[in-house]
Amino acid sequence: MPDSLLIRRGRVIDPSQDIDKTADVLIKDQKILWIGTDKPPVDDYAVLDASGLIVCPGFIDLHCHLRQPGYEAKETIASGTWAAARGGFTTVCCMPNTNPPLDSGDMLNYVRTVAFHEGIIRVFPIGCISVGRKGEELADLNEMEMNGAVAFSDDGSPVKNADVMRRALEYSRDFKRPIIDHCEDLALAKDGQVNEGVVSLEMGLKGIPAAAEESMVKRDIDLAKETGGHVHIAHVSTAGSADLIRAAKEDGVHVTAEVTPHHLTLTEDDVIKYGTLAKVNPPLRTKADTIALLRALNDSVIDIVATDHAPHTKADKACVFDKAAFGISGLETALGSLVSLILKSELTLNNMIAALTMGPARVLGYAKLGTLETGAPADVCIFDLHKEWTVDVEKFGSKGKNTPLAGQTLKGKVMSTIYMGRPVYMDDAMKIG
Ligand code: DOR
Ligand code: ZN
Repeated sequence: MPDSLLIRRGRVIDPSQDIDKTADVLIKDQKILWIGTDKPPVDDYAVLDASGLIVCPGFIDLHCHLRQPGYEAKETIASGTWAAARGGFTTVCCMPNTNPPLDSGDMLNYVRTVAFHEGIIRVFPIGCISVGRKGEELADLNEMEMNGAVAFSDDGSPVKNADVMRRALEYSRDFKRPIIDHCEDLALAKDGQVNEGVVSLEMGLKGIPAAAEESMVKRDIDLAKETGGHVHIAHVSTAGSADLIRAAKEDGVHVTAEVTPHHLTLTEDDVIKYGTLAKVNPPLRTKADTIALLRALNDSVIDIVATDHAPHTKADKACVFDKAAFGISGLETALGSLVSLILKSELTLNNMIAALTMGPARVLGYAKLGTLETGAPADVCIFDLHKEWTVDVEKFGSKGKNTPLAGQTLKGKVMSTIYMGRPVYMDDAMKIG
């Protein structure tokens, strides 16, 4: 087998270089060597036919849960990276709400070692902000950074203590690592199950008000402004949060933000339809919120899309609503969900790809990722924008079968994922010749 691979005649879209044209992409020695339409600069190569398909940088997920160590029944690094590859991702950043939590250099090294041996794509671990994720005492961010933490977060829980958040942001300013902020005022959200509003009333469940998120978005924007640190707001779910981020950006605050495919495409009404499979934190909100989030994404107020892939076991979800776990298994349906917005002309193809590639690379500060530039790692996603497929959770790579999209037909299918020059996922219709 030759050591070079030519991806032939795809529509190459790379927002980092403003490229959108039909061309060939040549990979050699695990790197991108050339994009062009003439004769490739090497003679011996294998060929992957991408005609009729989109060829773009491999997707980067800034926010997912791989659950190892401690919750291997929900997911492992092996199953989670397999799911990611099936979803077109070549890099995932995993959250530290494991058991024990990733709050030390040793824990980060554990994840990196398992990822090296058992993962099939790049795994960047995120370290905790506070010791034990308790929100009380700042963890040793410096030690974690030296052992591979790309960002810090207590995701799953907020950082209750504002002084801890303030000091984490000071650190982020000095070391240029984002603080990924799960914004939730626990007093306001207490025992909440779904968005506070019509649906919480109808279902007789305690609601989570928009203010539970927005009050903390506001607090932490203020702290980022004061410290000059970089706050990245995780899973933005309300119109009010988007407004706060918009104003903060105009004010020059170093704030970035992400939105999930489910908060863009589903609303609180879906909780009535899908029950615990649509139970997620922050909760699915209203139609007006999804419209505001889409607008914010199109205006670059929200910088990126992240999955918040939150796999759970069947038992975690097959129970009464207020005992069920929060979360949606999202790596394998992210593309299909987002393509539904493109087909309704609510999102452009270029913006979607940017939000999954160049955008997260920039939030992390990695210029060589999320791009098909010459010399960049050969991480590529090839997808069919129009191909229909049915979400069969039994075929998921993820152990988490918990998605409200189960059984639905989506358009937009990953056909091949290439990580460092090597195909890690191929649809049955794809062949290397
Ligand atoms: O729905 C969620 N699930 N939201 C979070 O913040 C945490 C996540 C999890 O870890 O299951
Ligand atoms: Zn979260």
